[in-house]
Amino acid sequence: MTTEVLDRLAHHRLVPVVVLDDASRADGLAGALVNGGLPVAEVTFRTAAAEESIRIMAARGDVLVGAGTVLTVEQVTLAVRAGASYVVSPGLSRAVVERCGELGVAVLPGAVTATEVQAALELGISVVKFFPAGTSGGAKAIAALAAPFGDVSFVPTGGIGPANLHEYLALSCVRAVGGSWMVPRGLVAAGDWKQVQALVADAVALAAH
Ligand code: 3PG
Repeated sequence: MTTEVLDRLAHHRLVPVVVLDDASRADGLAGALVNGGLPVAEVTFRTAAAEESIRIMAARGDVLVGAGTVLTVEQVTLAVRAGASYVVSPGLSRAVVERCGELGVAVLPGAVTATEVQAALELGISVVKFFPAGTSGGAKAIAALAAPFGDVSFVPTGGIGPANLHEYLALSCVRAVGGSWMVPRGLVAAGDWKQVQALVADAVALAAH
């Protein structure tokens, strides 16, 4: 089941990283993502609205909703109860990974060094978030890590946008790329769905070429 979720993320190639300040925007955002051709969201636990936003988006049934910036076991529980199908962490936490395992939810912990990738492998993880990608060596660093870790895949996030997206997507070990550029916090807060949808559609078109 958890592999299936990661396969679905890989299918879409892009993971919009969302910060929602108000859960009343969650449904509109989900609509903009669906209409823009990218029915995926990583709703970050950086605001108090995250849990309710996940609940609203997951209840629609047409968006692959995950929880991002998950730092604690408690947040894993809240996210999964709200309907998150995957959990993303900026770093590697054994406690978070184990709780996800108990709840049967896919987990993408962060790893940017060989030591961290090995630690992830020891926890049974073979798909990691590479964060913050831009300041951790970018696509070159991922390519270098892929040499010893041939069975590991990466989801880079952090500092990625239209200008450098293809550096990452060109790597066969990159399953998907995350980012906030197609869901700017200000536009989401303003409920400007026309603009969000256009940015999402542009990102989808770019990833397809
Ligand atoms: C994340 O949590 O994945 C990042 O904050 C997203 O990074 P970006 O805003 O640079 O795309």
